[in-house]
Parts: sequence; C-alpha cells; structure tokens
Amino acid sequence: KKRIWLSRHGESQFNVQDKIGGDADLSPRGELYANTLPTLISKHIGDDYPLTALDELDTGVCDGMTYDEIAEKFPDDFLQRDQDKFNYRYRGGESYRDLVLRLEPVIMELEQHEKILIVAHQATIRCLYAYFMNLDHEQLPYARVPLHTLIELTPTAYHCEENYYKVDI
Ligand code: F6P
Repeated sequence: KKRIWLSRHGESQFNVQDKIGGDADLSPRGELYANTLPTLISKHIGDDYPLTALDELDTGVCDGMTYDEIAEKFPDDFLQRDQDKFNYRYRGGESYRDLVLRLEPVIMELEQHEKILIVAHQATIRCLYAYFMNLDHEQLPYARVPLHTLIELTPTAYHCEENYYKVDI
C-alpha cells in the first residue's frame, strides 16, 4: 500500500530561540533526534530499502581491518582481490559484482528522476558512477572517488560530462 513518510529535521537553534529561518544548526535535542532517526525509520518503515540499499560493499570478516592486517591474516584473499577485484567476494561479505546487482533497483529509481543527489560510500558510488560512465568490470573497482568532492555527471547524447567540485578542507 502506498505510503508517504515525512519528518521535520531535529530541533534547530532557531527553533529554541523562537527565530524564523531554515539554515540554523541543530540544537542538542535536534542532534539526538537525528541520531535516533535511523532506528525510528527501521521500526516504522523497515530497513530493506532505502536504508540498506546504498550500504557500503560488505567486507565480511575484514570489516574494520586495515589493508595491511588483511594481507597478513588472509594473504591468499589479498592476492586474489588484486587479481580480480570485481569478482573477489570478501569472506562472509560481498564482491563488487554482488554490489552492482544490489544497486540495480537504485539505478532504476535514479533513471526516473531528472535531478538527484546521492551521498554514499566509496564502493557504492563507484558502481553508480560506472553505470553512467560506461566503465567495464576491470575499471569499475578502481574508479577515483575522492573525499570531500561533489561529482556532477551530465549525461549528453553519447557520453557523460563530469565536473568535480572539490572542497579544500
Ligand atoms: O576505506 C573506505 C572504503 O569505502 C571501505 O569502506 C571500502 O571497503 C573501500 O573503501 C572500498 O575501496 P576498495 O574496493 O578500493 O578497497
């Protein structure tokens, strides 16, 4: 059944001070609400979509490890990933191929919007970027997605123009 969920943002400094306007920081209570929102959403909306659809590549048993730690603990895996990064599936986790499949519904959704902003993780963005930029399986896992940069893709007839807006922080 169709449903629409709406929520105000958490209480802002302006709310507390009875001021009008839309760009103030959150108050401490507002921060608390923001932190609680994911739980509220899973409870009342569910957490299959959209909460998990854009999750980062699931690195399974390697979650929280550094690349050096992985190389030491799972040297064969480390090598295998280097040889075929697209197909390598983390133990108990996902491969880029798995991630591409997981993102299919998101891509269908994206195609229906004229303008859309997605804030997500590196591997997730690589897959979405690769779709629009027509990258193949060898290129996709190595696509450059720098931190603190807004990437703008403008599809034209035969290719996609890209602009990178980097923030110096
Ligand atoms: O380190 C940040 C991160 O987004 C990890 O969460 C993720 O596993 C990794 O980058 C993806 O990059 P690569 O596939 O190149 O290891």
